[in-house]
Amino acid sequence: MNRHLISAADLSLDDAVAILDTAEEFATLAERPIPKLPTLRGRTVVNLFYEDSTRTRISFEAAAKRLSADVINFSAKGSSVAKGESLKDTALTLQAMGADAVVIRHGSSGAPHRLAGWVRGSVVNAGDGTHEHPTQALLDAFTMRRRLGRLDGLRVTIVGDILHSRVARSNVWLLRTLGAQVTLVAPPTLLPVAVDGWPAAVSYDFSSVLPDSDVVMMLRVQHERMSDAYFPSVREYSRRYGLDGDRMALLPDHAIVMHPGPMNRGVEIAADVADSPRSTIVEQVTNGVSVRMAVLYLLLSGSREPAEPAVATTGGLAPAGERAMSAAAAEAGL
Ligand code: NCD
Repeated sequence: MNRHLISAADLSLDDAVAILDTAEEFATLAERPIPKLPTLRGRTVVNLFYEDSTRTRISFEAAAKRLSADVINFSAKGSSVAKGESLKDTALTLQAMGADAVVIRHGSSGAPHRLAGWVRGSVVNAGDGTHEHPTQALLDAFTMRRRLGRLDGLRVTIVGDILHSRVARSNVWLLRTLGAQVTLVAPPTLLPVAVDGWPAAVSYDFSSVLPDSDVVMMLRVQHERMSDAYFPSVREYSRRYGLDGDRMALLPDHAIVMHPGPMNRGVEIAADVADSPRSTIVEQVTNGVSVRMAVLYLLLSGSREPAEPAVATTGGLAPAGERAMSAAAAEAGL
């Protein structure tokens, strides 16, 4: 396992399976009366959140606490970031306080990669711009494997604002590694230009792919990342790309409905679908804690003295991922 978790694309099959299997062990722990282990006692995990978050942030905090780590929550609002402090200076401050792991969410793609070059501890990407959100993909894979018993050969349909979705990107790469087949469904304006190079099929006809889907994952339309109109109206979007009860009835009996949250009920997903027994939305949140425990455990339970910051030379990234991220970070002015 690498020292950092920045991109799902960097995970080997062995790494991914090790995380899912470890998460499975932690999930059984959660059922005990005192769901806490002393594993990371004396270690410090910093949650560095530059973007709004409800479940991801709480989930990382719960995961670190269940492993007995000390947790420092840092939110850009109310910090010196609001006074114009750069990511680098914030990183050096965290470094000086001896953070063993920094969990970062940032609006710019490439920020976690940059951070990994400045701190000694492990960096975990909790969502960077439109780039990646690897722990979300891991908890999604974990949820699919728990509900359906396997990942290899699973047919997963991801629907909605693919263009702005780091969840979709991380899922596409991780599911490829795990042997699942991904189909993306979106209006042409909400698909990235580079989608041709992704290991996924594309369809514009949502209803036609449903009978052949084991999993349908709905995504939120990310208005906050849009500067233009990408579709005529919310009603029109909902009619063509929303999952309502009629569409859900086209799924095979065993199929599940997923959503990373936050949901816009009545837009991409109807309320009765979100609350139906096929929906794994609440389970995904529960599973997120076990998966993040596994990630923190596997990254931190090794040597006590982490190496010098080294991403610029060897780092925790595969060479291709590293090149891509350096470019993205440079573009974001980090
Ligand atoms: C997603 C995110 O922040 O990328 N949510 C999450 O982490 N659970 C998806 C979204 O914001 O729509």
